[in-house]
Amino acid sequence: MASADTILRLEALSKSFGGLQAVRDLSFDVNAGTITSLIGGNGAGKTTAFNLITGNLVPDSGHIYLRDARVDGLPPHKVARAGIARGFQELRLFNRLSARDNVEAAIPNLRGESIIRALIGGRELMDERNAADARANALLDDLTIASQADSLAERLSYGQQKLLSLGRLLAAEGELLLLDEPTSGLSPGMVDDFCTRMRRLTGNGKTILLIEHNVDIVMRLSDWVVVMHQGTKIAEGRPEEVRNNVTVMHTYLGITS
Ligand SMILES: Nc1ncnc2c1ncn2[C@@H]1O[C@H](COP(=O)(O)OP(=O)(O)OP(=O)(O)O)[C@@H](O)[C@H]1O
Ligand SMILES: [Mg+2]
Repeated sequence: MASADTILRLEALSKSFGGLQAVRDLSFDVNAGTITSLIGGNGAGKTTAFNLITGNLVPDSGHIYLRDARVDGLPPHKVARAGIARGFQELRLFNRLSARDNVEAAIPNLRGESIIRALIGGRELMDERNAADARANALLDDLTIASQADSLAERLSYGQQKLLSLGRLLAAEGELLLLDEPTSGLSPGMVDDFCTRMRRLTGNGKTILLIEHNVDIVMRLSDWVVVMHQGTKIAEGRPEEVRNNVTVMHTYLGITS
């Protein structure tokens, strides 16, 4: 079971696709209020690990605990309700919806809205809608894309779409945020902004598990780093410890000396 400040625990997780072991005997903890980075080369098993955590995949063996509750085997909507919000490697926006509607669609209460209730309508539903509008507007404002609230998602620049997808993640109100390559394709200025935002989020009580290819960002932002290679964990530690690990340098960072 998890210790007091452990929010997420992976215990000996394994997942195969046919003959390929994508994740092999993977164990690590994520401490509450920290930024933990999951790194490794292409095909190392990082996204598969995320899919196991979020219930999009069921592990062949092993367990996942969110605080003291087992979440492996739960369907994704129950994992989300338990407090894990996830961003995708690809943006997964609703291109033909406005930026505001994209964020609103990620707000939990509205997602559960029944057709009957929508037909009956009434004051309660109006209040909920107004609250969702206000929440979406506040998120877009904070992400500096309020001026695009009524624009179709597909009209936004790539950087704005990345911010919008972060807005959808934040709208889900998880305690633990899983981000899969959130900085890919961002300009250096936007990367700085992103790092500031991540720190602000942990300052506000969120915990972040990040898949990140950019070594500079990993070193700058992480409290803890887990290194995967061919489905297994080959190292973990504070950023400076991992950087100094010779195996990591060879297998992941590609540095030979
Ligand atoms: N649904 C699937 N069916 C079959 N094989 C899969 C499936 N998902 C992932 N794989 C394979 O599992 C391995 C791990 O993939 P995964 O996507 O987890 O890697 P990754 O570390 O996220 O890589 P990248 O950095 O390229 O995103 C790869 O060999 C991949 O081809
Ligand atoms: Mg991936």
